[in-house]
Formats: sequence, C-alpha cells, structure tokens
Amino acid sequence: MTTIGKNLDFALALLTENELVAIPTETVYGLAGNALNEAAVVKIYSAKDRPSFNPLIIHVPTVEAIKQYAELDSISQQLAEAFMPGPFTLLLPKKDIIPDLVTAGSDKVAVRIPKHPLTLRLLHQLNFPLAAPSANPFGYVSPTNARHVLDGLNNRVDYILDGGPCEVGVESTIAEVINGQIILHRLGAVTAEEMETVTGLKVIPKISEQVDAPGQLKSHYATKTPLYLGDIPTLLKQYAHKHVATISFCKSYEGLVSGHQYILSPKCDINEAAQHLFSVMRSIDEFSFDLIIAERFPDRGLGRAINDRLERAQAIHK
Ligand code: TXA
Ligand code: MG
Repeated sequence: MTTIGKNLDFALALLTENELVAIPTETVYGLAGNALNEAAVVKIYSAKDRPSFNPLIIHVPTVEAIKQYAELDSISQQLAEAFMPGPFTLLLPKKDIIPDLVTAGSDKVAVRIPKHPLTLRLLHQLNFPLAAPSANPFGYVSPTNARHVLDGLNNRVDYILDGGPCEVGVESTIAEVINGQIILHRLGAVTAEEMETVTGLKVIPKISEQVDAPGQLKSHYATKTPLYLGDIPTLLKQYAHKHVATISFCKSYEGLVSGHQYILSPKCDINEAAQHLFSVMRSIDEFSFDLIIAERFPDRGLGRAINDRLERAQAIHK
C-alpha cells in the first residue's frame, strides 16, 4: 500500500532500507531510491515500467558532494555554482562508485541538486545519492503533486513525501560541457542565455532522438487524449464536429464552452503557465474529450520548454 505524508524520518528509514520513496522537487516529483544499491535501482525501473536503457539522474545535497560521484571540470563547476540547487542537471564523467545500471552503461552520470526544502533536508541526512526519475509510469506526463504520483504509481512505491505542488512544473534543464562548449540536452527553466551569461560560452542545442536520452525521444510526456499543437481557431474549425479541450496561455477563445478551455495563466505569466501545464494535461485526460488542441507558447524562457513538452506529447498520435 502506498501512503502519503510529510514524515521525513519514515522516508529516511525506507530509503536506507533500499526501498522507494517519491520525493518532491521544484520541477516535478521523483521516484527515489539509493543510487549506490543495485537492488534499489532495479526497483525504480520496474515500478515505472521504464526500459533499463534509459539512465537515471542522481540527486545530491551540495556541489561538493557531486565530486564523490563524478568528475567536475571547472566550467561545469561554474554552472553548478550558478544554478544549483535549482532546475538544472549536469551530465558528467561518472566515478566507479555509481553502478552502471544507474547510467544504463554510459560513462556519464546526470547529477542534480533539487531546490526543495524537504528533499534537501533528506539528502543532507543520507550518506548516499538518490537516483530519481520523474515519478510517473514510463511515457506519461510527469507528476507535479503528490496526488499525481499516487494516480500513476499506487502500490508501486511505499511512501510519497508530500511537499505540495511543484514550483517550476517542468523537468530540469540538462546540460553537458564538451570541449569548451555547452550542449543543451533538455530544455527547462534554466535557459541557454543564462548559461551563456554565466560562462561566456556558446550553448548548442542537441536535437536528437538517440536512445541514450529518451527524455528527448518524441512521443514522451504524452496524454492519453490525442493532442494537436497549432493555431487554436484554425484547428477548432478543422475539428468542429469533435469534443475538444483547448490549452492556451492567457487568452480565451470564442465558440468554446468555458469549462473546455484550459487557460494556463490568465495573467500571462509564463512561470505560472509552466506550473499548471502537466496538471492541466492530466485533468483533461480524466474527461472523455476526443482531442486536445494546444497553442504554441511564446518562444522564450520557460515558453520554449512548454513548447518542447507539447510537441513531444503530440508526436505519439501521428
Ligand atoms: O527535473 C528533473 O530532472 C526530474 C526530477 C525528479 O529531478 N527528473 C527527471 O528524470 O526528469 P527523468 O528520468 O524523467 O529524465 C531524465 C532524463 C532522461 O531523458 C534521461 O535519458 C536523461 O535524463 N539522462 C539521465 N542520465 C543520462 C546519461 N547518463 N546520459 C544521457 N542522458 C541521461
Ligand atoms: Mg521522466
């Protein structure tokens, strides 16, 4: 049975016994286990039905702690000091102490310091890092509150540490420093521009569908209801005979019942829109809409990360 609560000692005890606990972070909830224990890591893959070629991010309490598990070059260190704790993950050469199972055989490990008071306290009290993918069944939308985790993983995780709704709402930015360049593997709240400002280096987007970065695979983060991305009035005309829900930034559109329009931020705040994105996608899935029509968000900051997630959500239906 899965229980939900705020009992840090209970979470600590379970994790120390190599059991799983869902943890709150500022991005999305993670499904955490002892990253140094293969049995715990196996439980993570199986609870999520996640293919074992899809590597996991490890979570640590401080920049100093990163060095126990990975090689931290000076540029990566600069990035870590600027953006951690925060919605930011670095890919680094791994040390032997990290099991190959965590990195799916890669010699790189993804490391992050989440900025959530409960989870930071937990990490400070543990003497091992936590491997934690997003706490959703593989391929579905990431959870941004404790209830979402329960909906997807009931009986597959012992305890959900409830830290309230996630502040950022989309998964962390993933970056890697190679030969004096920064490769951007996943879009998130920390932007390419911010990384360029801090380091003075160029950031290069990595557009790929390699199996080593399935967060970058198309048909990820998908709703069960088919989702189309584009101009809402045009698509509404095209699908006039269908039972449609829309996802928009701050405008409402004519010709639709208000309860079928999901406006992510009536005050046009992109951060608020990102906070609400996944929970709105999940709510729509609870009704019997034929399809979701979503508009493109402003192509800057978190708007880019939102567009990226919407594009991946629609690809599966093509
Ligand atoms: O915000 C986040 O990063 C959340 C919270 C829970 O920390 N975690 C998260 O984990 O989004 P997950 O497993 O859903 O996504 C991690 C992404 C995947 O696309 C994975 O392929 C990539 O990171 N990744 C992890 N380790 C990697 C590695 N060694 N090489 C390449 N990609 C890696
Ligand atoms: Mg995920």
